[in-house]
Amino acid sequence: MRKKIVAGNWKMNTTLPEGVKLAKEVNEALAGVNAKCDVIICVPFTHLASVNNVIDANKLGLGAENCADHKSGAYTGEISAPMVASTGAKYVILGHSERRQYYGETAETLRAKVALALENGLTPIFCIGEVLEERENNKHFDVVKAQIEEGLFNLSAEDFGKIILAYEPVWAIGTGKTATDDQAQEMHHFIRSVVEGKYGKEVAENTSILYGGSCKPSNAKALFAKPDVDGGLIGGAALEAESFMGIVTAF
Ligand code: PGA
Repeated sequence: MRKKIVAGNWKMNTTLPEGVKLAKEVNEALAGVNAKCDVIICVPFTHLASVNNVIDANKLGLGAENCADHKSGAYTGEISAPMVASTGAKYVILGHSERRQYYGETAETLRAKVALALENGLTPIFCIGEVLEERENNKHFDVVKAQIEEGLFNLSAEDFGKIILAYEPVWAIGTGKTATDDQAQEMHHFIRSVVEGKYGKEVAENTSILYGGSCKPSNAKALFAKPDVDGGLIGGAALEAESFMGIVTAF
């Protein structure tokens, strides 16, 4: 059976002391509940090693928010997949819409990043999602399908089986405007059918597909109750232990 997952995406928030404090709070809160899903926090590169030291890896997974499309070398300022893995992190968000939009990430760079993440034992949390105009023009299914095909369908079935997908409609990210649970279910079901078309039913059924975009304690339960919504990728609401835990315990 596919995993249920709630993953935080801290984005470019918190200083190192603030981040370590937040990680400790989440870790402590998790110790007191019987979480019915895997819980992950994806934090800024600068925080990875320190956060790894204060969390219980059996209860709380750690991830980065990006990694480079090269293994090593003269790429000033970049952070490679082996560097991320060496901190103890086990996950990496790739293809977030903010990376695609503000940093020009293409399907080609993403294929390189996915390959390097997998080679280094990191599980990619691969983001897909349409912008508002695409939805309004009824192109959202085509856009999401193309993002999956171009970013991931070069993988073997075995490697694809290691990917976590996150559907994040760009118009819902940080806007307070959540997709309805029916809109999320409709797209997640479509995504699973696209995966099935390429890799077959077993792989499709085992792929965790998270929803992201203004997910909060008040709407998480209804979203997670949908059969193809396997959890959430959480931005704003992951920046406080209480609201993040409110989503974790929605399962
Ligand atoms: P949000 O961000 O929860 O703040 O909308 C989600 C994301 O971008 O991963």
